[in-house]
Amino acid sequence: MTGHLIVTDEDATRVLTLRRPEKKNAITHGMYRAMSEAIDTAQNNPEIRCLIITGGSGVFTAGNDLEDFVATATAEAGPFGASDAIRFLYSLAQNTKPIVAAVDGIAVGIGTTLLFHCDYVLASTTATFSTPFIHLGLVPEGASSLLMPRTMGYHRAFAALVMGRVVTAEEAREAGFVNVVVAPGHTEAEARKVAREICALPAEAVAISRKLLRTPPEDLTRRIDQEGHLFGERMKSKEAIAAFQAFFKRKKV
Ligand code: COA
Repeated sequence: MTGHLIVTDEDATRVLTLRRPEKKNAITHGMYRAMSEAIDTAQNNPEIRCLIITGGSGVFTAGNDLEDFVATATAEAGPFGASDAIRFLYSLAQNTKPIVAAVDGIAVGIGTTLLFHCDYVLASTTATFSTPFIHLGLVPEGASSLLMPRTMGYHRAFAALVMGRVVTAEEAREAGFVNVVVAPGHTEAEARKVAREICALPAEAVAISRKLLRTPPEDLTRRIDQEGHLFGERMKSKEAIAAFQAFFKRKKV
């Protein structure tokens, strides 16, 4: 576990709260591991009927920690396929319990792509969604190349995933991956209400119906592997290393 992820069980809901505000909740290896564990251990726990993922007030997450990216990019070896991020994505793909996401502020990279594995997404009016993979010399991850065009249509997915266009909360609602837009500071409270509504439903019927509605986990993990392989190669590319360095250099001037 890591102090940057708080996991609490509230009645039948497990709440995962990203808490690294000084780094805009950028996700480290340890946070991925803690999130995987929180999701995996909920699977066979009949007491847990629903999960919430939140970043708290003001920020969801700035995505993968770029310092970790630099460390991986400059390491001698280290297959991306075995990484903590991939294991977390597998946990999401194989998860059988409804997940509610509460996005208040920025959701960058995996902060956006993870939402396509969730079942109900609340966003505040100030939430923004961005997937700047190509600007970083990378490629899409988290089965987003499969799920985003399916959810929002090819052209909107291209603008977001390839062009890196930022999507506002209202645009995300129109695009179909946000259910409801609420006032800033209210996403968590509203997410708890949604979770209570889901928890009150017959759990077995929910699980069966959810499975019918969703893309099969094996399709998701296959795409996660394909993307992960390419992502791992791109991490070590000159384009990617230059982009990571530019981010940290920009901060010193
Ligand atoms: N990884 C590591 N550190 C990050 C980070 C990330 N993904 N995102 C932000 N931080 C850190 C910054 O380095 C800064 O740390 P410092 O105060 O020690 O210098 C701190 O968080 C605050 O970020 P800052 O850039 O000053 O905030 P901002 O409000 O001006 O901008 C963002 C916020 C999210 C727009 C900007 O930080 C950003 O673009 N981050 C990178 C996002 C990204 O590319 N993620 C990977 C996607 S695949």
